[in-house]
Parts: sequence; C-alpha cells; structure tokens
Amino acid sequence: MKGVILAGGLGTRLSPLTKVTNKHLLPVYDKPMIMYPIDCLKNAGITDIMIVTGGKHAGAFVELLGTGKAHGLRKIQFAYQEGEGGIADALSLAEDFADGGKIAVVLGDNIIEGNIAASVEAYRKQPKGARILLKEVHDPQRFGVATLDAAGKVIKIIEKPKQPETNLAVVGIYMYDSQVFEIIRPLKPSARGELEITDVNNAYIQAGTMTAEILQGWWTDAGTFESLFRATKLVVDGGANKLKL
Ligand code: G1P
Repeated sequence: MKGVILAGGLGTRLSPLTKVTNKHLLPVYDKPMIMYPIDCLKNAGITDIMIVTGGKHAGAFVELLGTGKAHGLRKIQFAYQEGEGGIADALSLAEDFADGGKIAVVLGDNIIEGNIAASVEAYRKQPKGARILLKEVHDPQRFGVATLDAAGKVIKIIEKPKQPETNLAVVGIYMYDSQVFEIIRPLKPSARGELEITDVNNAYIQAGTMTAEILQGWWTDAGTFESLFRATKLVVDGGANKLKL
C-alpha cells in the first residue's frame, strides 16, 4: 500500500508563525511536524509516499526530505496544490500516484502515540471500501464527529457540529480504495469553501463499505496554538524524552 500525506493549506490559525513557513514544518519538540505522519506510515511498513503541499514554502519540503532515503523511505514524491481547496481537493492530486491501488492517507498535522500497522493490515484484507479511525475527545466541535448504530457501525459523520451527537472524532488517518477519486470528482465546496473529506467518508458510509475502529494511544492535531502546544507536550511527556525543565 502507498501513503499520502496532505500538508497544504495556509495554516492561518497559526499566524504569524505560518507567515514565514508552512505549518507542517513547524517544530513539534525535536522534529518538523511533517516527520510524525511520515513515521506513522513508515511504522506501518508504508515507504512509498507522496506529500501534497502548496503555498510559498513548498520547496522547503524537498530541502528537508530530499529523496526520502535518509528517513527510511523507499521513495518520496511531491504534488503541488494550487489554492486552498481542502483536504479532498489535495487528495485528488494523488490519483496517478495511487495507480488504482489502495492508499493510506495521513493529515500532515496529525500525531499519534501508537502504530497503525494492525489497522493497515485489517484494511489490506478488506475487499473494498474505506477504513477510518475514531478517538474520544473532549472538544468534538473541532472535528468530524461520528455517530454509530447499536452494533458499533458508523452511520454518519458531521463536520464540526455545533451540537455533537457523540464525542468520537474522526482521526486524520484514512484508508481508501481507488473509488475515492470517483467520489471526489463531483464534490462541491462546503460553507468554508473546501472539498471536505467528511463528504468523501459519508459517501463510503452510504455505499455500506466503510469500516472503523477506535485508535489506541493518544492522538492530537497540531493546527492551532493550543493543539500545537499539546502535541509538543504529548511527544515530550509520552515519549522517551522526558525533560527536566
Ligand atoms: C480535518 C477534517 C476533520 C478531522 C480533522 C482531524 O479538520 O475536516 O473531519 O476530524 O481534520 O484532524 P481540519 O483540520 O481541516 O479543521
């Protein structure tokens, strides 16, 4: 399976930090943010990776990652997203790269404690469709939020609901088959002017081909000052790096 990391957008929620660099190159303790989703894929045995980015600092990703070999990748490719069309728009640029196969997609600002190897393995065995990861959070309004039926099957996802039905956030790690590109093509921008990944996931739910599991270990995004700080704290406190400050 190949991997796609989505690292576009303006990162306006982190201005002025993002005036001079891309959000995904900001430090989370001892590494640029993008290194965490790279490790996430690598730890699941995925070493053929495409990074989709954009904006004024796209070249800095090539400077940082080069061929990818120094970071244990077999191959790294880059795609350039013009404008801020959203996550699903960024993903559409990976169609040729995916080449008809299954892909694991990670948002460039998502950091996890654990390993998705078992989830990727479960998805490999799934004949078709998609697989998502869910995590209980205290602030579901900030995320895509999943509602489950009595059997634990996801029946819908609402993007940033004002009154969430559950506290189960959809983690920014998604597994898709090649159908995903057909689903994205007719999508229309949401109120925030973006092609939403939640619309993609709801299409799989409607088709009855979405599976889901709860992610083990901590998870955070890092796209706001609060979550960027939390990400650094989790990496430090939850890792082997315990600091004496
Ligand atoms: C995006 C998705 C959302 C998901 C979140 C995970 O939100 O739209 O469904 O729960 O990533 O980090 P955004 O970062 O664009 O606000």
